[in-house]
Amino acid sequence: MSETNKTAKITLGEQSYEFPVLSPSVGPDVIDIRKLYATTGMFTYDPSFTSTASCDSAITYIDGEEGVLLHRGYPIDQLASKSHYLEVCYLLLYGALPNAAQLEDFESRVTNHTMVHEQMHRFFTGYRRDAHPMAIMVGTVGAMSAFYHDSTDISDPWQREVASIRLIAKMPTIAAMAYKYTVGQPFVYPRNDLDYASNFLRMCFAVPAEEYQVNPILARAMDRIFTLHADHEQNASTSTVRLASSSGANPFACIAAGIACLWGPAHGGANQACLEMLREIGTVDRIPEFIARAKDKNDPFRLMGFGHRVYKNFDPRAKVMAESAKEVLELLGVENNPTLQVAQELEKQALADPYFAEKKLFPNVDFYSGIILEAMGFPTSMFTPIFALSRTIGWISQWKEMIEEPGMRIGRPRQLYIGETFRDYTNVEDR
Ligand code: CMC
Repeated sequence: MSETNKTAKITLGEQSYEFPVLSPSVGPDVIDIRKLYATTGMFTYDPSFTSTASCDSAITYIDGEEGVLLHRGYPIDQLASKSHYLEVCYLLLYGALPNAAQLEDFESRVTNHTMVHEQMHRFFTGYRRDAHPMAIMVGTVGAMSAFYHDSTDISDPWQREVASIRLIAKMPTIAAMAYKYTVGQPFVYPRNDLDYASNFLRMCFAVPAEEYQVNPILARAMDRIFTLHADHEQNASTSTVRLASSSGANPFACIAAGIACLWGPAHGGANQACLEMLREIGTVDRIPEFIARAKDKNDPFRLMGFGHRVYKNFDPRAKVMAESAKEVLELLGVENNPTLQVAQELEKQALADPYFAEKKLFPNVDFYSGIILEAMGFPTSMFTPIFALSRTIGWISQWKEMIEEPGMRIGRPRQLYIGETFRDYTNVEDR
């Protein structure tokens, strides 16, 4: 961030005030209004943050007009095709691609932390079997602060590092346990000779009664799904993690807050909602009916997996995801999958419709991911937990960046109060 010689002038009646304009390394300039209230006695009003930069960050850059997503400067399509998830984790967390020794060391630190405290197994059994795995994730990740006391002191860099590694390493174990618990199968312990994605697939799909062989192509597709979801700058769940952390709360509690926010259908819950929508549409001849509903202002229905606050062009993650969906379905011999056919035709018809063109609504990352996950054997309820485990690295990297910033202060938005002004209390018998 650098100061420019530009200023922004606000005129209130006779009085004018000037505010500095700051330049990012790439992207639109920002007006620095930190002194606005002190100098004018006024706040800005931007309830859903459409024009507000809430922090400065060097991790992820999005150009929504051009459909660009960069992690530490590297485009997401290059990372998805040439890198792999743990390398991307290193990149997001430490700022640069690792050399071979650094990568080996990082992978070994992560794999050494994949098991969860044995007592957590008993913690799991307190949940109802029909609980949504996201409910289990929110509760269990929050409970990590009760199991890992030695990494909750955020003022200690070593503890912060251990907490980060623990979260990256244990999240797949916890997500897989949430799944196993809801289907009534025994938990499968992690295997540290497997790569991150293969280990997750095995923990989800192996049973003690028989050998489980991980299909390397499916493991690659799983790894790509993790990579495509790894970070996405200041989205709702990341902002939740940052706001929770700004109070000094421990990292496990903050990540649990992020998971809770991700759960909603406008955010990470959209992948489950999208697949359910595609199934409900069922056949291509019903697409026009659903497009008409999405356009109808009196109908709350929206095309799930479509639209984005920042992308006003193709979501670059959706392009990679669409290719991956085709590859995985071909591999599994289900190219004629009816859900994929509905998705492809729905995408075609929506993009040709002036409503979606005018509002710049394109498929987002959630549009095709569910099709791949379903083909791999995951129930829809596991889609959002998989998003949560993938996004954990983004949350942790943003948390680490924020904690390491000198002079970090608690986040405390103000409001435009529209309630009653002053009134005297009346006793209940007088009301
Ligand atoms: N279907 C139909 N109309 C839509 C859709 C949609 N999916 N998305 C936006 N619109 C319309 C909306 O009705 C509004 O129209 P108007 O200006 O006439 O009132 C206009 O487009 C702008 O929508 P908005 O709700 O003001 O936009 P937003 O930036 O607040 O919301 C969004 C972004 C992603 C929540 C929204 O596009 C949406 O609800 N999409 C479906 C859910 C979804 O796929 N979410 C996943 C997002 S990507 C992954 C993630 O972040 O987790």
